Amino acid sequence: MRISRRSLLWGGSSLVTVMTVGRLTDSERVLAQTNVVNVYSSRHYDSDKELFRRFTQATGIRVNVLEGPDDQLIERIRSEGNNSPADILFTVDAGRLWRAQEAGLFQPVNSPILTRSIPSAVREPGNHWFGFTRRARVIMYHKDRVKPNEISTYEELADPKWRGQILVRSSRHVYNQSLVGALIRHIGQARTEKWAQGVVQNLARPPQGGDTDQIRAVAAGAGNLAVSNTYYLARLLKSPKPEDREAAQKIGIIFPNQNSWGTHVNVSGAGLVKTAPNQRNAQRFLEFLASREAQEALAKGNNEYPVVAGVPIDSVVASFGTFKSDPINASVFGRNNALALKITDRAGWA
Ligand SMILES: [Fe+2]
Repeated sequence: MRISRRSLLWGGSSLVTVMTVGRLTDSERVLAQTNVVNVYSSRHYDSDKELFRRFTQATGIRVNVLEGPDDQLIERIRSEGNNSPADILFTVDAGRLWRAQEAGLFQPVNSPILTRSIPSAVREPGNHWFGFTRRARVIMYHKDRVKPNEISTYEELADPKWRGQILVRSSRHVYNQSLVGALIRHIGQARTEKWAQGVVQNLARPPQGGDTDQIRAVAAGAGNLAVSNTYYLARLLKSPKPEDREAAQKIGIIFPNQNSWGTHVNVSGAGLVKTAPNQRNAQRFLEFLASREAQEALAKGNNEYPVVAGVPIDSVVASFGTFKSDPINASVFGRNNALALKITDRAGWA
């Protein structure tokens, strides 16, 4: 496959180059060896590119972005081996960051800036990767048909009183695997397995689509409860399409487990690739992502939460309210991933 490349022009000068997954040509390999940082990213927000431009302006380091789906980027770095131009892998979900770490793709970064500004719960204990945004996985409900005090925990999703009323995407998706990984940690394997069976019994339909589809289905009356990350609801609330906004306005949010272990929170995050040709630039790039300026832009770009304390959040996201998040280290989701898959498979969660 030939690479398709486009340069984004900012104020007349090309500072951020975006490529899509393909094979690097010789000239691109040369480009990758000048004063640059090469970022393999599954985030594809214009706000990220604007942010990277500001990094270039501040440091003189050019940012080359290779975009692609998460698992493809991981596979690509693996197959490129020692010749990989990748300096940074930026992806979503601690489960995936863990997979990349397990594949030996990352090296630890010892940076006082990163360890000081990023809370320990959202960075890998050995500093192999760092969370830069937080995403809360919550219960959503139809405001006309459910009262917010009728359910307050993930555990209650398995209660028979919700028979035929729950919408959730496939357990093959890493977001659910990480949630199940958190449950394993908090309530143990046996209870999690029972829980997964109960959730399957309560499904309104076989899992299909992504989180947005579950929200839409609840709004349309296919069920009363959905499991989703909050940013999908924020996206619908801000949609240019009136029908999206109308659907979203029917939906309320419950931050689960406020009286126990807290709401499950995952990350989007990045690490320094083991074979990075531009290590120093890459470390500066990671440190930049922890700055207040970058934190605000990264979180707002996808209606998520910043990881650094005191950084302002988007007004629609703020309207969801504040909540207590699960304090366990995000690497637990990765460590429990294989067991989570086994449990959901056995429970028949498609
Ligand atoms: Fe997502």
